[in-house]
Amino acid sequence: MDILLVLAIPCYMAAFARGAPLPESSAQVADQQFQGVVQRSRSLTQKILLSIPDAHESCVHAEALKLDSPQNAKLAVMASNIGIPSAPVLRVVSESFSLEAVLRNVSEGLQLHRALLRSVSPRLQNKDKVAALLADIKDLIIQINKMVKMANGEAAVQPSPSPSPVVLRLPGEYDVQVAAHLSLGQLQSFGRDVLRCLRSLDRSGEEEAES
Ligand SMILES: *[C@@H]1O[C@H](CO)[C@@H](O)[C@H](O)[C@H]1NC(C)=O
Repeated sequence: MDILLVLAIPCYMAAFARGAPLPESSAQVADQQFQGVVQRSRSLTQKILLSIPDAHESCVHAEALKLDSPQNAKLAVMASNIGIPSAPVLRVVSESFSLEAVLRNVSEGLQLHRALLRSVSPRLQNKDKVAALLADIKDLIIQINKMVKMANGEAAVQPSPSPSPVVLRLPGEYDVQVAAHLSLGQLQSFGRDVLRCLRSLDRSGEEEAES
């Protein structure tokens, strides 16, 4: 069920039109320091997206488990048995959704995937690529949290409620493979949404084509 929801997000995200007006947040977004963090976050997100296929190949060997396969929706039941939560929804900054709230969801989703991969990785035979990916995710979380802080005007940031601990049920080797596969696949689609979100906040290359 959760996975179906995750698969539905990209449709939602089609609403992420470039340069959409950002009402009350636009001054903050235009800030030079903020833009610097947007740039760093964009390149980190790109780096993460580029490393996912390699990381997947390094640890998921089951033939049937391919990234970006339409078959993945069929794993929804396994995802819920294993205990993989779905990513938070990422919305467009608008009258109803503040910049800070949107960025908090970005941060939360990244923390979720970091927790997922951290709980799977001790069970992997080949962990190096996942470890490198985890380091990049951690860096990206730091950048996003900087933006959250700027977006709320440096007011004392209430510490985000620490995400509920991820407890995966991984009785067998195949469950480990499925968990790694689903975590990386879900991180890939969430990461694409994050990239769209960051692109909508980037004021440096307005003429650049949407990809
Ligand atoms: C944040 O994620 C939650 C859970 O998916 C969602 O209900 C909420 O609308 C999202 N808020 C924003 C601003 O994206």
